[in-house]
Amino acid sequence: MKSEENPEPQEEYILGVDPVELQRLWTQHEVWAEDMRRLVRRAGLGPGMRVLDLGSGPGTTSFELASIVEPQGHVIACDESQACIQDLLQEAKKRGITCVEAHVRRAEDLGIEKGSLDAVYGRWILSWLPDVPLVFEQVSRALRPGGAYILQEYVDWRAVRLLPRSQAFDTAIDACMASWVRGGGTIDIAEKVPALAREAGLDVESFTINARTGCPGSPVWGWVGDFLTSYLARLVRHGHFARDDYESFLTEWKRHSLRPESILMAPVVADVVLRKSGA
Ligand SMILES: C[S@@+](CC[C@H](N)C(=O)[O-])C[C@H]1O[C@@H](n2cnc3c(N)ncnc32)[C@H](O)[C@@H]1O
Repeated sequence: MKSEENPEPQEEYILGVDPVELQRLWTQHEVWAEDMRRLVRRAGLGPGMRVLDLGSGPGTTSFELASIVEPQGHVIACDESQACIQDLLQEAKKRGITCVEAHVRRAEDLGIEKGSLDAVYGRWILSWLPDVPLVFEQVSRALRPGGAYILQEYVDWRAVRLLPRSQAFDTAIDACMASWVRGGGTIDIAEKVPALAREAGLDVESFTINARTGCPGSPVWGWVGDFLTSYLARLVRHGHFARDDYESFLTEWKRHSLRPESILMAPVVADVVLRKSGA
């Protein structure tokens, strides 16, 4: 296990990487782990492969990838956040995982040898980046012919909805949408993926969507509720959401959480497998 340290970038990543957010990434992963495993296996990931986990966070998905490629395979985890990479390395040590190396590195500047990877995996990273074509160029360059770029990204974040409809909830979602625009990325980045892939010399092998719903107490309810509660508090702290609106959201969320008949529609995620041409 190795680590390489670069200075933290200047601009703050929109969701932050404080301990609450890093813990949230683990809880979120529990809800999505099975979908991830199914997707990467369908894309042909297997023992002995060399894989990049792009925007690895604290290692949520890196350790899943490691469990598939080990013992001979190798996972390179990259994230721009030093806090994430530190957590990842500690966790890898605790779990006795030796086939993962981790680097503090931006997705736009991977510095990985041309044609050296069998696969690249990335979940919930492209939505926050201002220069996604550059990332595609880097990924495509690093893949061997026939290698796979496997990604799970939002294709319709605004689909999130509480049924029956709630004004306080919709106001909170509008505040999130405004923040995505302010952040300079493209929240529904998956809709641009086929064109980005073509430009970068990657073929679309599959593009499916994952639209989940949940009732109070379900994993999906917990996932979206945890995200909104912490992210909206962050928007309040940064002056982008009124405290009163946040209180109204919390009251409404608690009220619905006690109603077994309430339904939550989650943001829609696209599961995509791209293939480097020329195998
Ligand atoms: C929503 S988290 C997802 C983490 C992990 N992929 C998962 O699914 O659990 C997004 C991650 O992208 C990282 N990130 C944001 N901008 C980045 C960039 N330009 N290059 C590399 N990582 C970046 C953040 O530090 C954060 O860990």
